[in-house]
Amino acid sequence: MAAASGARHLLAQNEHPYPPLPSVLAALAGAVADLNRYPDFRPERFAGIIADWQGVPAGQVVVGHGSAGVALDLFHSVVRAGDNVVHSDPCFDAYPLFCGIAGAEARAVPLGPDARHDLAAMARQVDARTRIIVLCNPHNPTGTVYSWAELTGFLRQVPATALVLLDEAYIDFARDWRAPDVPDRIAAWPNLVVLRTLSKSHGLAALRIGYAIAAEPVARRVREVQVPYAVNRLQEAGLLAAVTAQEEVDRRIAEITAERERLRDELLALGRSVPPSLTNFLWVEAPGDEGAVAAELERLGVAVRFYPGRGIRIAVGEKDANDAVIEGFTRAHRTVTALR
Ligand SMILES: Cc1ncc(COP(=O)(O)O)c(C=O)c1O
Repeated sequence: MAAASGARHLLAQNEHPYPPLPSVLAALAGAVADLNRYPDFRPERFAGIIADWQGVPAGQVVVGHGSAGVALDLFHSVVRAGDNVVHSDPCFDAYPLFCGIAGAEARAVPLGPDARHDLAAMARQVDARTRIIVLCNPHNPTGTVYSWAELTGFLRQVPATALVLLDEAYIDFARDWRAPDVPDRIAAWPNLVVLRTLSKSHGLAALRIGYAIAAEPVARRVREVQVPYAVNRLQEAGLLAAVTAQEEVDRRIAEITAERERLRDELLALGRSVPPSLTNFLWVEAPGDEGAVAAELERLGVAVRFYPGRGIRIAVGEKDANDAVIEGFTRAHRTVTALR
């Protein structure tokens, strides 16, 4: 389907390429009949579904308007005038925005040369007024990860007064990444907040289902700043159906990650530098002018995200979309080589 931009292949927003599962669509259709009724004043039932699914007490769960909404609530719960937030640059667009909304000084730390967080440099930015340190794992826009050992090394260095927001929006695509279960992580590190979403691996970006798992006092504080009726009946019906369809969700994830590796191999064969990605997107390093690639992709109806002078972020789509990406890069490669 064509987007407002006119592109045929929508690969600019790290979305899931497939429409929602039939069981989720059926659940949503069933819930529509009850839209004259309010959802829960406080989304306790909804949080209970997440708690059962993730094997944590409901008191450790915060739900909201996508994981971005939960993250903003977290900012509102702890940031006061004069506080700061440390994050990487580049990172998911919402975090610099949230610093502005919540009135935090944003301390943006450039990524290291391996397209991963520069954890040492981030730790140096942390002080007594740091309320949140944002670590996306895997990272957006580069798709890179760091090990649990690296992470715990970092956690050991930073004061417990700073919450470490471990944004795991893409973690379901990182099947080989190993870490203790979330309840054990939270028990060991009470300043850790794990953020997850059904937007990416479950393909429900428009339904806005996100959640955080944190130590009870942290979770409670976030719930206290949340708007009543924060989660609606469609979200609840969609959530229930989605978490009971894990096998189909996993099958789709396997398809996407296989396509991701095929696409990466083709781009590497064209001489591109593409760090290994454990997400549903790839980061093509592009320190110079990418006019030829932009022109070819546009001609082929492919929308991707350009970070001028840094890189190109490409969501993994269906096979024909990925073929179009390969075609665009191949044509641009030929044009640039012919000009040399
Ligand atoms: C790292 C990261 N966190 C959070 C989000 C937002 O996800 P949600 O749709 O749950 O708000 C995104 C979306 O692109 C993301 O890349």
